[in-house]
Amino acid sequence: MRFALSALLLAVSACAQDHTTEAGEAAIDDPALECAPYSYAPVHAAQASFPAIWQPVTSVPASDTVARAKFLAMNSSIPKIPPKGTLAGDFDAFSPTYSATDPDCWWTDTKCVTPKLSGLKPDIANVPEPRTLGYGFDDGPNCSHNAFYDYLTEKKQKATMFYIGSNVFDWPLQAQRAVADGHEICVHTWSHRYMTAFPNEGAFGELYYTMQAIKLVTGVTPTCWRGQERRVGFQRAATEG
Ligand SMILES: *[C@@H]1O[C@H](CO)[C@@H](O)[C@H](O)[C@H]1NC(C)=O
Ligand SMILES: *[C@@H]1O[C@H](CO)[C@@H](O)[C@H](O)[C@H]1NC(C)=O
Ligand SMILES: [Zn+2]
Repeated sequence: MRFALSALLLAVSACAQDHTTEAGEAAIDDPALECAPYSYAPVHAAQASFPAIWQPVTSVPASDTVARAKFLAMNSSIPKIPPKGTLAGDFDAFSPTYSATDPDCWWTDTKCVTPKLSGLKPDIANVPEPRTLGYGFDDGPNCSHNAFYDYLTEKKQKATMFYIGSNVFDWPLQAQRAVADGHEICVHTWSHRYMTAFPNEGAFGELYYTMQAIKLVTGVTPTCWRGQERRVGFQRAATEG
């Protein structure tokens, strides 16, 4: 009887899922259990002052006075570049009309990484030190990523994790694992749509609310981002050469 009871306790603890702490979540090794939804109080409490998850951010509401003031303070210095393409990444209707001189430094068109407007820093597009590798992983945090993080730890590798704000709100304990393991976190937008398709206010919101979500959940304020970009070549009209 005594034996049976301890065997039972062992069985219970072996499949215990602790979805209340970072360490508890990080210790779950069954992907299906890792992905069991849970509620995290700080996210639950803040949700009403954030955009709906997975919805493109189209505006910064007047009710968010802090965000609104920030946007208005920088609005006049944001380049007035009209949106291109659709949020889903269809540039076909737009591409024949875009100037071959690439005035906006549109990476999808020319792989441009040095802005043509003055005062803007070039993109970080390579690692300056020789014989050095920079790892960047997009689209996290992913609910079942423990095996991946375990692997990085085993290989003593640090990486830069580009987090989607909506995933941070869905999987806040998983988001904390990057910090616990010493990785860097950058912004990969709120809703994971194509950034060139947003008007300026929406683009601001996509970045701002993802920064706020990462700060709320991990305590870290990210200072870097990259967006969802088109992976296939830009179709320029043949007559443009
Ligand atoms: C931001 O500036 C542009 C013009 O530069 C203006 O059209 C737009 O209304 C401004 N946005 C807000 C929210 O004031
Ligand atoms: C996590 O990653 C897997 C493998 O890439 C993918 O199939 C799944 O949709 C991701 N889950 C979430 C919640 O993003
Ligand atoms: Zn992505």
